[in-house]
Amino acid sequence: MGRVRAQGAKNAALPAFAASLLTDKPVLLHRIPAISDVTTIIAMITALGKRVDALGGGTFRIENGGRLKREAPYELVRCMRASFFVIGPLLARLGEAIIPLPGGCTIGSRPVDLHLKGLRVMGAEIEQRQGIIHATAERLQGRSIYLDYPSVGATEDLIMAATLAAGETRISNPAGEPEVLDLIAMLQKMGAQIELSDSEIRVAGVKELTGAEHEIIPDRIEAGTYLLAAGITGGAVEVEGTITNHLTALIAKLQEAGIELQIKDESITASNEERSQAVDIETMPYPGFSTDLQAPMAAFLALARGKSMIKETVFESRFAYIAELIRLGADIQTIGRTANITGVEHLNGTQVRAADIRAGAALILAGLAAEGETQIEDAGHIDRGYTDIVNKLTALGAQIERR
Ligand code: EPZ
Repeated sequence: MGRVRAQGAKNAALPAFAASLLTDKPVLLHRIPAISDVTTIIAMITALGKRVDALGGGTFRIENGGRLKREAPYELVRCMRASFFVIGPLLARLGEAIIPLPGGCTIGSRPVDLHLKGLRVMGAEIEQRQGIIHATAERLQGRSIYLDYPSVGATEDLIMAATLAAGETRISNPAGEPEVLDLIAMLQKMGAQIELSDSEIRVAGVKELTGAEHEIIPDRIEAGTYLLAAGITGGAVEVEGTITNHLTALIAKLQEAGIELQIKDESITASNEERSQAVDIETMPYPGFSTDLQAPMAAFLALARGKSMIKETVFESRFAYIAELIRLGADIQTIGRTANITGVEHLNGTQVRAADIRAGAALILAGLAAEGETQIEDAGHIDRGYTDIVNKLTALGAQIERR
């Protein structure tokens, strides 16, 4: 049995750094994962005027490094679309933001129309010139905003903008991911007035926010990836330091597939002696099955007994990794947003290429189970979201090395 500790959540860490732009006072963040997306968001807020010190052990201190700037560097937004959500804090603090539109990526066009629509409702003037968004607002006004889709990033961006707006903002049909709730918890420690009901988030704007100390939640997607590593290799893995109720959808599907799970409050152990059973998956906003576990789950199902169907409802094209699984011997057909998987007895190692973070994780899982060696190119994508994955898997008994 191997043991691994969950890292801090990438998708909680990134908005937490953006939220530090909302105050002049020092902010202390704990359990920040050592991943390249964190390096990118730190570069972003540093470029915007913050000073960030790594105090070791995943703790970072963010202080003022001079006047807050209104312009975000293109190269940082280009390589990580999540950094687009600095537009809300900058508009709230400075009344102005100049942010490049993020490019698309392998999982879809990833527009930011819901971010911009919400900011316009709050009174921002927004123009787009040569791929750059120029946003200005005398002072953002608290308004009622309906999100056509419960977008995680748009919800986080608009909450941050609303914390310093004049009056109350109500966001209906918001995202309810644990990472959104973690951002809200941090903002409340900073003095933001935020209330949650089951259908909307209400933010009463305040004049200014103070600093805060906040430990971010564990990464449910990383934890789920390691549980699937046990499932696909027939091993036994205990993932510690998790919040198990963030993983109810995955837990249900692993149990349906015949994986043995021991569930405690802060750890989950997965073990698998038999060949697992096929199951059907439909990705959905939280608490539905996470789109970020779709690719790792497909790798696991490629070796399950029977036919599985995966429906990806969150992103329009998140199957780029399937061609790579097929190179390893998987039997998968995709039609639109549906992948039909027929489990095979075994996979055979070969060269494959990682298209994005979760696609890369899926290829590692498949490589762990495949006969022979699998080489994964562009593995840098994986390091964007997984701390020290080679050493963590080696400690679990995997034969994996970085070349
Ligand atoms: C966040 O991305 C996560 N990233 C993603 O994780 C995750 O897959 C996604 O939420 C869904 O859970 C971070 O939190 C940094 P969305 P985000 O806005 O905010 C459409 C990973 O691997 N949409 O909820 O960009 C969009 O195109 C990454 O860790 C609009 O149409 O996701 C997509 O189809 C990948 N207009 C859907 O909503 C908008 O203005 C969900 O996107 C915004 C989004």
